[in-house]
Amino acid sequence: MLFARKTGPATLIPGVAILFAVYFLYLWRNGDRLAVATPRPAVDDWQPRGQAAFWRNVPVHYPPSSIRPLATGTPVRYPPIQATAFPAQPQDARRQAVKQVFAKCWRSYRELAWGADELTPVSGGRRDPFGGWAATLVDSLDTLWIMDMKAEFAEAVAAAEAINFTHSTLDQVNVFETNIRFLGGFLSAFDLSGDARLLRKAVEVGDMLYKAFDTTTRMPITRWDIRAAARGERQAAPASVLLAEIGSLSLEFTRLSMLTGDARWFDAAQRIADAMAAQQDSTALPGLWPLTADAAQTRPVFDAGSLFTLGAMADSAYEYLPKMAALLGGRLPGYQAMYEKAADAAARHNLFRPLTPTDADILVAGIVHVGEDGSTELEPQAQHLACFLGGMFALGGRLFGREKDMDVAQRLVDGCIWSYKALPHGVMPETFYLAPCPSPGGDCRWDEAAWKREVVRRAGKDKKETDDDDDDANNDDDPTGTAAADAIIAEERLPPGITAITDRRYVLRPEAAESVFVLYRATGRAELLEAAWAMFEAIDAATTTPLANSAVHDVTEAADADGKPQAADAMESFWMAETLKYFYLVFSEPGLVSLDEFVFNTEAHPFRRLVR
Ligand SMILES: *[C@@H]1O[C@H](CO)[C@@H](O)[C@H](O)[C@H]1NC(C)=O
Repeated sequence: MLFARKTGPATLIPGVAILFAVYFLYLWRNGDRLAVATPRPAVDDWQPRGQAAFWRNVPVHYPPSSIRPLATGTPVRYPPIQATAFPAQPQDARRQAVKQVFAKCWRSYRELAWGADELTPVSGGRRDPFGGWAATLVDSLDTLWIMDMKAEFAEAVAAAEAINFTHSTLDQVNVFETNIRFLGGFLSAFDLSGDARLLRKAVEVGDMLYKAFDTTTRMPITRWDIRAAARGERQAAPASVLLAEIGSLSLEFTRLSMLTGDARWFDAAQRIADAMAAQQDSTALPGLWPLTADAAQTRPVFDAGSLFTLGAMADSAYEYLPKMAALLGGRLPGYQAMYEKAADAAARHNLFRPLTPTDADILVAGIVHVGEDGSTELEPQAQHLACFLGGMFALGGRLFGREKDMDVAQRLVDGCIWSYKALPHGVMPETFYLAPCPSPGGDCRWDEAAWKREVVRRAGKDKKETDDDDDDANNDDDPTGTAAADAIIAEERLPPGITAITDRRYVLRPEAAESVFVLYRATGRAELLEAAWAMFEAIDAATTTPLANSAVHDVTEAADADGKPQAADAMESFWMAETLKYFYLVFSEPGLVSLDEFVFNTEAHPFRRLVR
């Protein structure tokens, strides 16, 4: 799509002639496939002015000694991600059903919470947990465009223009959340629509976030005192930051630099990636990085720590490795190298097959603890957040020709589908535990006694943390613990295979739908459509309210008169930005936001890839 610029008819004719000449020269030089790139807009189109230039003009205390330019050169010719054949059955009714749910949520947000970060979907009120910058509005822009709600999109863009990023409702701003939701939302809405006002807003947010890098180490402050920053005070990077929060700025910052030609953002994020690359082999679990990093040292530390997860607080740092390769057309080979090391280490250490009553051949990503002596212990925790991994393995598998990863991707996705089906409402909880098969790759036949032993052991573990004396699980009258297990299973409402549920909520998260979508686009497998539909119907049934959809407290309970779980009166912006978008796209023509043209940020905002 060409970027629409305001041009009079007199300048139009030579302009068009030059465009065609360049186009044919490009075709002649580059052969078959022409990149569907957004041409870089003129500086005048996005340069912030007046109040929008506020963050640009705050004094800088620690300017970088140099700015690394964006990589140039011919992009790598990656293999296609999307399958060549898709099922013929029309999915129109399903797509419309998803759109209706979105439209209802949007109507309620517009009527009751316009301009607020979130609508409260039961009480019909408003909340501002993300700075009061209309998170739901900005996060929903590209979904409005994709669902062809163009009138609503136009109205939302006009409202977004007025968001005041010099003032926040919060004392402390989460830089990561602001980046993925606001910067990501504006960039993607611009990439889809070409509306320059959106790029201007993206630059405004980019200028603000760039200020969080004004530290002696040029590492960002991830939980940021934005008011002190606005006053121009000196600031320091923290000694402990979460891997995901420091490692997931690259995609948005790089896209912003690609669109503006201003390399400052890319340079800022690339310093983080360089430090991660340099220390990837010196961690306690080489290939993976520990959960926290130290950004206060002159040489930031990414290799001190013993806990390794691909789930909460680490997740998107891994997700962004293959996505950076996709975005940049492989112009920085380091990302592929980092991804391959991480994927191999994760597959070896974190992924496990659990015991299930149906002997399902599925995989789940757990947490690895590394001891002082280098020994590893797997904590068989499953998280809804970690369901993004199936999509990551599918994307990396296709992009880098790692055929074996496609099998891993399928089994990870099947693990999330299994987890949805295992619960009474057909909706997976936030975190729970499973019993790993005794030997990986070996016998994994269902063993009810083994499951019950693990239920008792897990309950003892959980109890020990609060009450050391309570050890009735090892009662002498019940040497195998079966009665104790049955009591726990009944009380905790544990489905067969699940050994504990430590966070019983479902908060409208997208990761399962996301991975089903990516794997569907990568394989064209018809059964994924059915899995997606079952998921969507189950989620909507369990979370629907008269106004919208709500997070629920406990996916194992039937609390209200309709037998639904109790609503928590919360609807985070990712419900409309991600969950509903992925469901809509899975039931759309595979050419709509093709993975061969776009790469999604971790908030489901598609950016145009550099493709050859
Ligand atoms: C934006 O917020 C700042 C700080 O509170 C305020 O001074 C300014 O007037 C606001 N701008 C607009 C247009 O409301």
